Amino acid sequence: MGVVENSKLTVVGAGAVGSSLAYAALIRESAAEVALYDIAAEKVEAEVLDLAHGTQFTRSRVTGGADPAVVEGSHVIVVTAGAKQLPGQSRMDLAATNVGILEQLMPTLLERAPGAVIVLVTNPVDVLTVAAQRITGLPPERVFGSGTVLDTSRLRWLLAERAGVSTSSVHANIVGEHGDTEFPLWSEARIGPVPILDWAGGECFTSDALDGIAHQVRDAAYTVIRGKGATNYAIGLTGARIVEAVLRDEHAVLPVSTVHGPEIPELEGVALSLPSVVDGEGARPIIGTPLSERERGQLVASADAIRAAAGALGY
Ligand code: LAC
Repeated sequence: MGVVENSKLTVVGAGAVGSSLAYAALIRESAAEVALYDIAAEKVEAEVLDLAHGTQFTRSRVTGGADPAVVEGSHVIVVTAGAKQLPGQSRMDLAATNVGILEQLMPTLLERAPGAVIVLVTNPVDVLTVAAQRITGLPPERVFGSGTVLDTSRLRWLLAERAGVSTSSVHANIVGEHGDTEFPLWSEARIGPVPILDWAGGECFTSDALDGIAHQVRDAAYTVIRGKGATNYAIGLTGARIVEAVLRDEHAVLPVSTVHGPEIPELEGVALSLPSVVDGEGARPIIGTPLSERERGQLVASADAIRAAAGALGY
């Protein structure tokens, strides 16, 4: 696919996630211009230089630095700035620190790029999505979180490996919180047209095997953080993919995190992931995703956890 002419992505935060996201966007040519913005001048200038040195090998252009003017003209802004999990910490442990950062940052972004679609990646992403929407007063579709798109990719990879098929032939989603209460929508999961429990005559995916896989997905970030201190590559690819859906006005269905209206009363005012349509206007959850009784209960539990964490910080 060609680069969308004149399209500009700004990535806020030049840490491991932000610079990997910018790198993925350059390689995938997700935007004509990929800008990196951070208040830490030396760090961001070095990252921009390192990325720019590869300009010969991509059709995307790199810009960036510590001046907020970097953000001007952005069609999409991805926020990765903030504290990251240390080994043993949960995403929720970062809520107070990262909401504080957002309170400083969002007015600047809005002032510099009032028409941009804003995608939150910083954790806890669902709590931050609620806070960002309230701080900016933007319509919920214009400010949404990367949510469980990454967890869904982890899930599809594990299912595909076990079934011996391509990840693109696995139709399954993780929904809810991007965090400890997330869960797979097994009732609708399929490989090609075959319901997951029926694949290979029912012998490949027993309910114990599915429980194990759900667990592995939920713990995936902890496992990576234990080994290398952070996760960055897969979230980088995830962010670039979401940006493309916006800039190319794809109407792609992805499980991003949006602040919900009254359609499912227990979710009202909370941001969490459900399959959503992502296009040039932003993201809107699909109405009518089928949920079993158990899944509905899990979704409400996830909403309650996010509401409690956001409420404790005044959102
Ligand atoms: C992860 C971080 C981005 O799941 O939350 O890898």
